[in-house]
Amino acid sequence: NTDGSAAVPPMGWSSWNAFNSDVDEEKVLASAQALIDTKLRDIGYRYVNIDDGWWLKRRQPDGRLLIRTSHFPSAATGADTSFRPFTDRLHAMGLKVGIYSDIGRNSCGQIYTPDFKNQPEGSVAEREVGLYGHVDQDIRLFFAEWNFDFLKVDGCGARGLPVDAPRVKSGLYRALTPLVDMQSLGGSDIGGIRGLYEQVHTALNTHAGDRPYVYSLCLWGAGDVRAWGKDVGNTSRTSDDIQPVWPRMLTNLDTVTHRALYAHPGSWNDPDMLFVGTGDFDAAHSAEARSHFALWAMLNAPLIIGYDLRKLTPDLLAIFGNADIVALNQDAAGNQAVLAYDSSEVQTFVKTLADGSKGVALFNRTASPAKAVLTAEQLKMLPTADVRLKNLWTKKEQSFRKEIAVTLAPHETLIFRATGTRRLPGGLYLSEQTGRVN
Ligand code: GLA
Ligand code: GLA
Repeated sequence: NTDGSAAVPPMGWSSWNAFNSDVDEEKVLASAQALIDTKLRDIGYRYVNIDDGWWLKRRQPDGRLLIRTSHFPSAATGADTSFRPFTDRLHAMGLKVGIYSDIGRNSCGQIYTPDFKNQPEGSVAEREVGLYGHVDQDIRLFFAEWNFDFLKVDGCGARGLPVDAPRVKSGLYRALTPLVDMQSLGGSDIGGIRGLYEQVHTALNTHAGDRPYVYSLCLWGAGDVRAWGKDVGNTSRTSDDIQPVWPRMLTNLDTVTHRALYAHPGSWNDPDMLFVGTGDFDAAHSAEARSHFALWAMLNAPLIIGYDLRKLTPDLLAIFGNADIVALNQDAAGNQAVLAYDSSEVQTFVKTLADGSKGVALFNRTASPAKAVLTAEQLKMLPTADVRLKNLWTKKEQSFRKEIAVTLAPHETLIFRATGTRRLPGGLYLSEQTGRVN
């Protein structure tokens, strides 16, 4: 899918990691202002996304969704609530704006938070705020009326639907499922959950008008999404939610490492948002924070900051604001890094860039120092000519021939841009210095 606008991985900020369902207008606007004041917007952090928690958990009798005006006062525009004042304001700041929903009857937070239970009573249907049964109505509201630019569609509610693909495939399930369940999907049961996500895609094309949009899929275990997500959305989650702990970052990383073929302009693997700034990735853990950021950049993950930017420190800004590393992520060729070397301790990722140079990351997964060797061969460069490396943290340059040994501190990632004499198909080499092939 390239209907959406994600020629490079989306960058920005989301409310979820910092605020969970307690998102409000003041917090979002303060983080948006911080993107501008710190100039993070100017290096690409453009999307400001509100996640779960924005809605009042019931619909009006005509099905229209209502905004939680206690948290978004500017949405109280009359009998119908509207995000339009809010999105207008963010657009005027030169930003784009994202919203969140779920493919099922309800969202994740809604099912699990006590908040849900405290919402006013309504009929069962009125209490269903997910997209299921309301795709066209809700997408029209989000995009044609409220002018959002980005939509994240969670999959928590998918569990309760009569369309779970593996079960639909079973003959027994088909026989036992009343026909009416299938018909209520409007003919989309063929593709199960995929069909529902495709309906949303169609509605986005209808209601976003001429405005480009990003469609972010947030399910990973259900409905065989690993096979089709790249064809339906612009970003596709590969794992459960990230948490601000080292092992969880590794787990999420590992779910994208071997999926480079699924990433290309218009469609990216999503190992979830950045937790840089929090827990194991706070300013006191700079090796961990930098590794998390550098690896997400190399793997073409969306760079969505999950930190409360009102508390941004110079150390953290130096990470998010590293324009050289952001440039690897935003490179026009859209090649996700691949592993050039992998022991259980050290991993070397290499990313081929549009100008033929390489991004290289040497990553120490362990809590002890580790030795690593980078070879010209791993970079597909001529071993008898100079390979030049620019360290993207320190900006220092060095060169080597054949190979270079480095020592990585615990959990450290060294990240470079490498230029040299490139190997072309057929065993030829292209010299950057002379432009000659030999
Ligand atoms: C799921 C998603 C998270 C977040 C929450 C909201 O857990 O994976 O990113 O959107 O739902 O409830
Ligand atoms: C379950 C599913 C995942 C995903 C989440 C919701 O865990 O298995 O695919 O849809 O719910 O975020």
